[in-house]
Amino acid sequence: MKPISRIDNSTNQLLYRGMNVSELCVNYSYEDILHLLLKGNLPSKKEVRDMCQVLIDFRIFYQENVTTLEDLAKSIDSIREENEFSLQDTLLVFVSLVPLVVANKLGEIKNQKIERPIDLLQHAANFLWMVSGTTPNDTDIFDFQTSLILHMDDPMNPSLTALSKSFLKGQSLSDTLLSALSAHVEPLHHGAGTEAMRMFEEIRNIENPRNYLIERLDSGRKIFGLGHRIYTAKDPRAIILSGILKRRVMNTSNDWLLEVIEKVTKVGYRILKERKGIEAYPNVDLYNAAVYLTFGFPPEFNTDLFAISRAAGWVSHLNELHSHQI
Ligand code: COA
Repeated sequence: MKPISRIDNSTNQLLYRGMNVSELCVNYSYEDILHLLLKGNLPSKKEVRDMCQVLIDFRIFYQENVTTLEDLAKSIDSIREENEFSLQDTLLVFVSLVPLVVANKLGEIKNQKIERPIDLLQHAANFLWMVSGTTPNDTDIFDFQTSLILHMDDPMNPSLTALSKSFLKGQSLSDTLLSALSAHVEPLHHGAGTEAMRMFEEIRNIENPRNYLIERLDSGRKIFGLGHRIYTAKDPRAIILSGILKRRVMNTSNDWLLEVIEKVTKVGYRILKERKGIEAYPNVDLYNAAVYLTFGFPPEFNTDLFAISRAAGWVSHLNELHSHQI
């Protein structure tokens, strides 16, 4: 089977099971790509219907006292034991419940009512429904689902390394998921979106972004949203999300984001080239954080939202690691 994900350096493209993610994200749903990552092939119509139904059915395991993703990870071993679930079903319970936990946490933070899930709505649409209380339109579903698909997996990333190490040490499923979650929130990893948004807010009202970015670098801080460990040119996911962002903010009060991002990419690129001798291109977090803002999601919520997406990658790797052991 082809690797769950890999970056093809000759084309600078991210591939899931050998297929170009930039194409997958515009043509398939969250559930299609979850099936692809987990089982190695795109599903038939029946298989994707089954995947949708499983994720819907497993929402029944949501418990109101599970208020964080860490609590959810801790509860996974007992859900598995009590229901005598296979590994794969247990992993799908985790995927199914992540958005429910995140939606309810968002409600707490914003002091806002969160709707109960609706069985007719799939993963991405149901999340938008729960946090907004209105049936999401097709554009919002497409944009949010695209963002979710683009983040489902990434080779050699810190949360995957933590997850694999923990699994290979023989730790429980709960502890393995907890180790992935703890690497996931690191500022240079998936926490970069939150930091990028804070930086955009600071730059928004200043006269000279070059001085600001130089001071930032000189004080040992990062220019968030630029650079990547593997991509040697602009992150292909950033290209897709920058198109979505432009469309979403055009003629709205959020259009300041485009101007700030333009400054960060151009001026930040030049400064990093002068000072560090590197070509730091925009990465996925630069645009994703801004896209999430257009949905009304607060910046500190980025890592939770990212987990809705990355849960698909984590469970696929766990499933594969397990299958190599038997
Ligand atoms: N801001 C400040 N410094 C940066 C930078 C950035 N955006 N990108 C790279 N650098 C620095 C590195 O820290 C390193 O400095 P050093 O030689 O003093 O240790 C130097 O430039 C060379 O970096 P490079 O080898 O190109 O990348 P890396 O593998 O060390 O780091 C990242 C990769 C992603 C951690 C780095 O680019 C970064 O911190 N980016 C900002 C955070 C971010 O957006 N993360 C999300 C990634 S999807």
